[in-house]
Amino acid sequence: MKYRPLGTTTVSAIALGAMPLSIENRPDEERAVATIHAALDAGITLIDTADSYHWHADERGHNELLIARALARFGGDTSGVLVATKGGRGRPGDGGWTVTGTPAHLKQAAEASLKRLGVEAIGLYQLHKPDPDVPWAESVGALRELLDAGTIRAAGISNVTTDQIREARSILGDALVSVQNQFSPAVRDSEPALELSTRLGLAFLPWSPLGGISRSSLDGPSGPTSAGTAFHRIAVERGVSPQQIALAWLLARSPLVIPVPGAGRPASIRDSAEATGIELDAAELAELETALPK
Ligand SMILES: NC(=O)c1ccc[n+]([C@@H]2O[C@H](COP(=O)([O-])OP(=O)(O)OC[C@H]3O[C@@H](n4cnc5c(N)ncnc54)[C@H](OP(=O)(O)O)[C@@H]3O)[C@@H](O)[C@H]2O)c1
Repeated sequence: MKYRPLGTTTVSAIALGAMPLSIENRPDEERAVATIHAALDAGITLIDTADSYHWHADERGHNELLIARALARFGGDTSGVLVATKGGRGRPGDGGWTVTGTPAHLKQAAEASLKRLGVEAIGLYQLHKPDPDVPWAESVGALRELLDAGTIRAAGISNVTTDQIREARSILGDALVSVQNQFSPAVRDSEPALELSTRLGLAFLPWSPLGGISRSSLDGPSGPTSAGTAFHRIAVERGVSPQQIALAWLLARSPLVIPVPGAGRPASIRDSAEATGIELDAAELAELETALPK
């Protein structure tokens, strides 16, 4: 495993995205715990969760409680593991997602996450998504209050524009340590957010780094694209999975990128963790850049 900076701490260069362990089509408890343990065995020290990672309406916090149970059952030392959670979204149980960014909700949600995770302070608390009905400065102000109260140690923001990153930075200063946006070879519209984050020294956590597709993440609806072909060609040549090549490509974008691949099985996160051992050379990177959809 290789490690990267996240605020004042250091975490594994690949995180575990725990969402698939709690939402629709989730595995049973044993497989879910085995997946988290496989991540820890592979040296992963950053686990991404949210209070809204659940399926049915009455089970808010399912994923946080699962992670807390898995850490408690792990045989090894977990003191260096950072569980990064989020607040500001809800799941009414119909498959949809809601957004609530009022300070009152965020403060109550963080307190509830703290209890579920069973920690003294949340290591990294991320505002899940800007609420269009609440001024951004008000939502971010709630993170400031949570920091001052000692409920959270560091703050992150997610699904944000460059303007929202700048404004959050002006409110939170150095306590803002991360930006989590969707970013993958197939979805690159957060390129400006990635560049700004790197300039400001903020970790950039690409969510759905494989495009949210389990098998052949770079294939289009009617089969392989030129990008898919390039990622697969290099994977075959190196004897690794195309997912590892996608993650290695992300890691090469900036020394502050920490991809967050999801996993519903131990094998997926074991494979993803190995991507930190791949350094794509200039010719490979050029081939991939040329093949990416413009
Ligand atoms: N901030 C946000 O708004 C937001 C939104 C969405 C997601 N996220 C975060 O980002 C994480 C990742 O997103 P995601 O779960 O939607 O998508 P993803 O990373 O693209 O993963 C989707 C699926 O791909 C499969 N996979 C992953 N690594 C693999 C590998 N090396 N080889 C083969 N298959 C592999 C896994 O399937 P199996 O289930 O078969 O293992 C996984 O469930 C989430 O878990 C969550 O933590 C954040």
